[in-house]
Amino acid sequence: MMWCEGLEVFEGFGRCYVLDFCCVFWRYRVSFVVKAKMIFPPDFLWGTAMSAHQVEGNNKNNDWWTWEQDNGRFPPHQQSGLACNWWQNAEADLDRAAEMGVNAHRISIEWSRVEPEPSVFDQEALARYRQILLAMHERGIEPMVALHHFTNPMWLVEKGDFGSEIVVDYFQRYTAKVVAELGDLVPKWLTFNEPMVYFFLRYLSDDFPAPAQRGLRPGFMAVNNMLRCHAAAYHTIKASRPDAQVGVAKNMPVFQGAPGSGQLSKWWAKRVDWLFNESWLESMETGKVKRPFGSGVIKNLAGSYDFIGINYYTRFYVKFPPGKEFISRDWGEDAVVSDGDYGEVYPSGLYQAIKRVIKYNKPIYITENGVPDQADSLRPSFLLTHLREVWRAISFCFPVMGYYHWSLVDNFEWDRGWTQRFGLIEMNPETQERMMRDSGRLYQEICQDYAVSSDMVARYAPSLLPELFPGDMPKIVTK
Ligand code: BGC
Repeated sequence: MMWCEGLEVFEGFGRCYVLDFCCVFWRYRVSFVVKAKMIFPPDFLWGTAMSAHQVEGNNKNNDWWTWEQDNGRFPPHQQSGLACNWWQNAEADLDRAAEMGVNAHRISIEWSRVEPEPSVFDQEALARYRQILLAMHERGIEPMVALHHFTNPMWLVEKGDFGSEIVVDYFQRYTAKVVAELGDLVPKWLTFNEPMVYFFLRYLSDDFPAPAQRGLRPGFMAVNNMLRCHAAAYHTIKASRPDAQVGVAKNMPVFQGAPGSGQLSKWWAKRVDWLFNESWLESMETGKVKRPFGSGVIKNLAGSYDFIGINYYTRFYVKFPPGKEFISRDWGEDAVVSDGDYGEVYPSGLYQAIKRVIKYNKPIYITENGVPDQADSLRPSFLLTHLREVWRAISFCFPVMGYYHWSLVDNFEWDRGWTQRFGLIEMNPETQERMMRDSGRLYQEICQDYAVSSDMVARYAPSLLPELFPGDMPKIVTK
């Protein structure tokens, strides 16, 4: 038996595949086993993502905890509770991440832990975050840290939180403290996670804890205050750590008129798309807000970002006039839909999201991408098809610098409690037991190889082979 290895490049998909040849000669039998690979850059960040309230446990001082306790919406065992017990033992999951080959991880700081009362900072909480960040560095995992991921300290809610402009001073003070204590360990910051999701779910639906006033006008005022907070935080971070990179994680779904719903729905989808996907980024770029309420210029906002974070999950259909359900669940017949009708699996939407932010000329990180899939029957294909879109973008020289999968471990999924599982690692919230899913093993291979190979596809999702490595693959020859 003899092995020979070589390397060859052929055209495909707009750029190239690199083929890793392996020829096996055995008596009269000759087989050519060909491994085609979508190769990622050597400095690519392979990450996972999580947020404080969803994993730390016992975050008792924020509005989510309060809401979970008393609104009758969270049946027993569906509250955040101990979550993934990260406050006590983040290190164990960081070991798992490191073993997986992950070299970047996204966390958030829980404002209500760090500042449990106005201007009273909890040094122990800050020290614990320091330990967690150090633990990442020790394992070769680069931290990306969000300052706000959906939750608010109760004292802030009592003062009107983002509905009141006073929040800008509070947010700046909190940012300054966190950066002073932890800035040496954090190369990448996110000021906000998904500000427009926060706007829709908190101000226009009852899926998030209610603000003082719901509705479009208070919602737009809150978005303006979040933009002001963003600008203040950006300049605060840069003043103390000029090398730090600062951005936001922007959820960017595809919006389309529901199939068969006519021209008005198409027009409506464009309006919703502009508001949800474009308006925040446009304001960060220009410093201007253009909307029915609250238009104007925001001081120090123009150009206040170093990169764009894209969170991508799905395509949404909308109808005009919108009904009680803003998003239509009339999926097409062939649609693949994830657990609990969360959304349609639509990989090319990720490429579209990347393409539309190229005009801002900034590095791009995929700061979240994942699927609720308890049985792990969709996640391996989801991972492969979405990474193909990332690779496609990179092969056109779009500056996508990293990918953070949501999520490392199953965690508390907001108003859906524990009914939706996003983890590469399965977790039982009652026993805290973990078990690596197949998709976790696949991600491990990808992270370790910096590539998606035909061989991985053949093992984890063989039906995708013709789609991901189409046509030109030499056949196995046997004499
Ligand atoms: C949020 C996460 C959430 C995930 C899955 C994102 O919109 O940032 O907190 O768990 O989606 O729904």
